[in-house]
Amino acid sequence: MGAEWTRASWRSRPRVQMPDYPDAAALSAVERKLASYPPLVFAGEARRLKRELGEVAEGRAFLLQGGDCAESFAEFSADNIRDTFKVMLQMAVVLTFGAKCPVVKIGRMAGQFAKPRSSPTETVGGLELPSYRGDIINGFAPSEAERAPDPERMLQAYLQAAATLNLLRAFSQGGFADITRVHAWTLDFTSGQAGYEKYHALANRISDALDFMQAAGVNAGSADTLHRVEFYTSHEALLLEYEEALARVDSTTGLPVAGSGHMIWIGDRTRQPDGAHVEFARGVQNPIGLKCGPSITESDLLRLIDALNPKNEAGRLTLIARFGAGQAGEHLPRLIRAVEREGRKVVWSCDPMHGNTIKSASGYKTRPFERVLREVREFFAIHAAEGSYPGGVHFEMTGRDVTECTGGVRAVTDEDLSDRYHTACDPRLNAAQSLELAFLVAEMLHQRLEAQRAAV
Ligand code: PEP
Ligand code: CO
Repeated sequence: MGAEWTRASWRSRPRVQMPDYPDAAALSAVERKLASYPPLVFAGEARRLKRELGEVAEGRAFLLQGGDCAESFAEFSADNIRDTFKVMLQMAVVLTFGAKCPVVKIGRMAGQFAKPRSSPTETVGGLELPSYRGDIINGFAPSEAERAPDPERMLQAYLQAAATLNLLRAFSQGGFADITRVHAWTLDFTSGQAGYEKYHALANRISDALDFMQAAGVNAGSADTLHRVEFYTSHEALLLEYEEALARVDSTTGLPVAGSGHMIWIGDRTRQPDGAHVEFARGVQNPIGLKCGPSITESDLLRLIDALNPKNEAGRLTLIARFGAGQAGEHLPRLIRAVEREGRKVVWSCDPMHGNTIKSASGYKTRPFERVLREVREFFAIHAAEGSYPGGVHFEMTGRDVTECTGGVRAVTDEDLSDRYHTACDPRLNAAQSLELAFLVAEMLHQRLEAQRAAV
């Protein structure tokens, strides 16, 4: 580490989880084309997100990050984007009420296409094929031709990301995100449904708060912030040819920036301190996420923090803990203590999805809602015990009514999984499960505040 960074310096580091493109000329033609296209985000936006995450690191804001495990070309539609955005806004209002502080909203959207896989090959119908690595790399259909990595897919991913971001910007700023509208959807959802009584009671308290603000003269006309939201994009920066081609030098600061999304993260399988992915991420000024699974050691973590956040900037680095229900107790305290001992400023976020994937009796990859919830509870309890701040949550979710994770009040059973199992990769919470989880996290945030009040 420490040698001069360039947008291509990752190329001299060991790389894992990336495809070997058979046609080098085709690959470089795509890279040149992408490098000539406009970036998807502006560096000033990435800096603003970093400032907002800095507030999270200091305990004055809360982070909600969510979206598909993998975006796909086939599922690309305005309705899908709208529905996921909509449920994230609903969750954010509920969380704001629970946390009594701003909620920073980041989609796993507009670039979340490349996937690390546990095995380079998989057997489908007796045929051994290269694993599907996300639509930006190869095709899902089980044939040799589809599974061959094709660089042209990067261009399609770029165009889809650009159109997605364009719609998200329009929704965020154009009135769709008005807080009274968003809350009305939630009230509508919780009213009159068996099992949702306690959530409806909380939703009614939010209505009271909004009515009070209205009466006090704070409304969308007088306060623009009630009418618009800031919404950011993020993805795992796995396919470094794509990231390099979209990296730019920010004209305001002269510093490099990843132009592919506001925040990028490093996956649990690609966080080798000397590896290509860490090398790329360390040189761009965007906020960076780092997935932390059970195999991460304290010394690795500190080395990674040194590499990724040498100036100890609050908001630069978000540690996304993903241990699995029942396992956080073994790992999170040791990591929190190492970070605290060294005085490192980080955001702690909880991904209760990736440590809780199981195979259902019917053979589907699923995640039980209770396990997801249990890991979030453990995350909050551990931070309470350590005196650190549980800064955010990271969910794989969709606004559609899919049947991919089991459980929830409107319970999805094992037998239901085959009904609407649409994910191209990992199972996602559906809209109802996502909102329910937001209510439960809001309660945890509320209890945290109550405990703090009681302590003073
Ligand atoms: C993901 O977030 O989709 C993912 C692959 O996570 P992890 O790197 O934590 O396994
Ligand atoms: Co996933």
